[in-house]
Amino acid sequence: MNVLVTGGAGFIGSHTCVELLEKGYGVVVIDNLVNSCEKSLERVQQIAGKDLVFYENDVRDRAALDSIFEKYDIGCVIHFAGLKAVGESVAMPLEYYDNNLFSTVTLCESMREHHVNNIVFSSSATVYSGDNEMPLRESSHTGMCTNPYGWTKYMSEQILRDTAKANPDWSIALLRYFNPIGAHPSGLIGEDPRGIPNNLMPYISQVAVGRLDHLSVYGDDYHTPDGTGVRDYIHVCDLAAGHVAAIEYMLGHKGENVFNLGTGTGYSVLDMVKAFERVTGKKIPYEIAPRRPGDLATVYSSPDKSAELLGWKARYNLEDMCRDTWNWQSHNPMGYAG
Ligand code: NAD
Ligand code: UD1
Repeated sequence: MNVLVTGGAGFIGSHTCVELLEKGYGVVVIDNLVNSCEKSLERVQQIAGKDLVFYENDVRDRAALDSIFEKYDIGCVIHFAGLKAVGESVAMPLEYYDNNLFSTVTLCESMREHHVNNIVFSSSATVYSGDNEMPLRESSHTGMCTNPYGWTKYMSEQILRDTAKANPDWSIALLRYFNPIGAHPSGLIGEDPRGIPNNLMPYISQVAVGRLDHLSVYGDDYHTPDGTGVRDYIHVCDLAAGHVAAIEYMLGHKGENVFNLGTGTGYSVLDMVKAFERVTGKKIPYEIAPRRPGDLATVYSSPDKSAELLGWKARYNLEDMCRDTWNWQSHNPMGYAG
């Protein structure tokens, strides 16, 4: 079966392309490279020892999508393409709504026209509202998002849900990722954020490699065991495997399917610093800084539904995540640029 992967050149998309190729799927990627580069796809093909097809286009370009669906027999779409920086979304809400929502709508319109009924969507733990008990389950409350990025995920879920209701032949998988980190064990592909990283793990690894001088720990007075924020970090290769499991599941299950992709275990910021130091032997200097607006004390998933219905469980542990992050960062100190 051929899978159309939007945003396939990005961090999670590139790892998922490897997994798809290795599992025997044909892969067609559409990506406008707004936050990635084609080199990642060259490396994907190198790792998998197989070719994929790449189109450098915007997912909002209906004609480009139509011509792909006409040319290839696509059985399923995985929709990664989107802008994802929370702070930037607060400063540029219209760009985020335009990019993330129109891409979803245009994609669904073109899929409907070409009778492609299966779509896996990159959602996020950010769609859960802040008033839930932990662990977060797929039935936990959603909404009350704290930024435009979060709303685009919430609204895209709704667009897909309504589309599946109106088209009973459709199957949609809404995958809510927790905190993806790590890199492919080969060290050939990994996370390559533009500018100063917003997220914890790329920040730590750029401190380790000497690009940044120290980590700011955003708050040490949370109601958590060591006072720093707790999150559910998941290896990106486990996440990639979750997408293939979702494709296999949705082919036999029409309608809406929502799954958490997390490990179910929370680690604090200082747990992450210590684990990274232990695994890499590198010292990570840090300073305690004020809390980051919008952050919650503790966020972690229940992965039970994914285990039960998808037969999927995270296999990599915290040491693996740190080792593979470092393997990628130390071999590619400037990311794909060098
Ligand atoms: P990424 O930025 O590395 O990848 C996204 C890709 O989409 C990039 O290659 C970018 O060039 C492309 N893209 C963006 N807008 C596009 C458009 N209009 N047309 C074509 N291509 C476009 O991000 P990622 O970390 O790989 O995230 C992938 C998806 O998962 C995103 O939708 C993101 O919101 C979601 N997600 C990510 C995280 C995370 O922590 N990384 C967590 C939850 C959800
Ligand atoms: C962030 C996004 C969220 C997105 C998620 C997925 C914000 C506010 N939220 O969440 O929408 O779905 O990524 O990856 O950006 N930290 C530091 N110092 C740093 C960076 C982070 O102490 O330099 C702390 C944070 O306060 C938090 C933890 O590390 O406690 C993890 O932060 P981060 O990697 O940004 O992820 P999230 O906050 O979970």
